[in-house]
Amino acid sequence: MTPRLLAYLTKLDFERRYALVARDDTGEGVAIARYEATREEGVAEIAVVVLPGWRRVGLASALVHMLGEAALRHGFDRFTATYLADNRPVAELLEEAGARQVIASGIANASVSLTLEAPYESGEG
Ligand SMILES: CC(C)(COP(=O)(O)OP(=O)(O)OC[C@H]1O[C@@H](n2cnc3c(N)ncnc32)[C@H](O)[C@@H]1OP(=O)(O)O)[C@@H](O)C(=O)NCCC(=O)NCCS
Repeated sequence: MTPRLLAYLTKLDFERRYALVARDDTGEGVAIARYEATREEGVAEIAVVVLPGWRRVGLASALVHMLGEAALRHGFDRFTATYLADNRPVAELLEEAGARQVIASGIANASVSLTLEAPYESGEG
């Protein structure tokens, strides 16, 4: 970890570089989703990771949904993501979000339009 990489990962302007963190009830971080503006107007690249013990309860879906709302507020209308094509969890997550996915040489590139929807609500009441 170089000081430059650390600064890149942790210094956010909450407009062109934005992150949302989920914490457990002790305050420990258990998931993070972030976007970063690309050189293309209105397009941001996203990344999301959830701690293994917290997977499959909808955390990534909730964070990506909220990230999309934040991105729309800051003038973005498209998310892209790049990942290994055999990463089934992320492929299915993006498919559920309506992403278009193109695979070449084992690398998948996904693109999804952001639209205004109802605020995120979990399935529980
Ligand atoms: C991909 C990842 C972020 C998903 O996080 P998550 O919180 O478990 O995802 P969610 O609970 O919101 O799941 C949403 C949907 O994604 C799909 N999905 C998630 N995990 C899956 C798995 N292991 N297998 C198949 N589909 C999966 C399902 O369609 C799921 O909906 P469902 O639970 O109603 O079937 C998580 O597995 C992760 O951190 N992976 C390692 C990091 C990574 O690869 N990040 C992507 C790089 S951008």
